[in-house]
Amino acid sequence: MSKVTVVGAGNVGATVANVLAHKDIVNEVVILDIKGNFAKGKALDTWQQAPIDYYSTKTTGTDNYKDTANSDIVVITAGIPRKPGMSRDDLISTNAKIVVSVTKEILKHSKNPIIIIVSNPLDVMTYAAYKASKLNPNRVFGMAGILDTARYRAFLATALKVSPKEIQAVLMGGHGDTMVPLPRYTTVAGIPVLEMMDKKKLNAIVERTKKGGGELVKLMGTSAWYAPGAAAAQMVESIIKDENRIFPCCAWLTGQYGLRNMYLGVPVKLGKNGITEILKLKLNKTEMKGLKKSADAVKDVMNTFKKMKIK
Ligand code: NAI
Ligand code: 2OP
Repeated sequence: MSKVTVVGAGNVGATVANVLAHKDIVNEVVILDIKGNFAKGKALDTWQQAPIDYYSTKTTGTDNYKDTANSDIVVITAGIPRKPGMSRDDLISTNAKIVVSVTKEILKHSKNPIIIIVSNPLDVMTYAAYKASKLNPNRVFGMAGILDTARYRAFLATALKVSPKEIQAVLMGGHGDTMVPLPRYTTVAGIPVLEMMDKKKLNAIVERTKKGGGELVKLMGTSAWYAPGAAAAQMVESIIKDENRIFPCCAWLTGQYGLRNMYLGVPVKLGKNGITEILKLKLNKTEMKGLKKSADAVKDVMNTFKKMKIK
């Protein structure tokens, strides 16, 4: 028996629940939102899709935390999204309070869940949830790297005129414009990408990736949800199936890459106990410099959060 709660029935939360239901790998998905009827509606719509798309995962909606009791995994997407002109960091004053209160409510009804944070600013909201939950940090981590890497892989697939399935890549750092795509660790069906594309073209793709979230906000007036929702569902799948798949995730660092006491995007293995290992890549000087710059940007937002003194 496995139960997943998704907090926030908005664009991303509803997509996580819907993609997860389609995977048919958990018994129950509960969608919780302060707008209870909205959550009930999204859940009922997904349940009514089950006879068409052939899955058994029961989806229900609620605004009552009692219904989330004994969740194995909780995905937190509650909070406001970016509007044009806003950075992810601008969301902190609203979303930090939401993420802290949601985490505390969840812990009243589920003893030792795995918590995946999606709300922005991602790295610091993951830190906020970790502090509020007092759980082992291997059980509290954030989704961003799968999405950012997927954007990079999709841009490469378009440029190279190949299936996106052929592109494997690693991307590190915070979920912001300082993220660090890693061309040295990017392959096309096993072939190093630098053998398939000149550096100038690749650099343009790296730069577009860094601003990939903003590109969608400009187009739609709000942030993306299909790829973000699918990315969070993929993390849940690796945990539920104990697959130990390797993904870039926002993880608690204890000295890896010379960084500690903070959350940042790094490649990890994801299995039934959450993060089972943080992989240590042999980054070169330029890559390390990029990672350090990204860590500094996250630390700045972390300091803003700490000054808020949210109880
Ligand atoms: P949305 O506005 O469509 O949905 C947010 C939902 O949260 C709303 O339904 C709202 O009622 C609910 N909510 C607000 N306060 C709540 C509370 N205290 N308890 C329960 N529910 C509450 O927003 P969307 O597009 O779904 O984005 C959600 C968050 O995810 C945003 O912060 C956004 O920036 C972030 N995001 C993060 C990504 C990542 O890669 N980590 C990618 C895309 C979005
Ligand atoms: C995204 O990258 C805004 O974090 C959101 O789409």
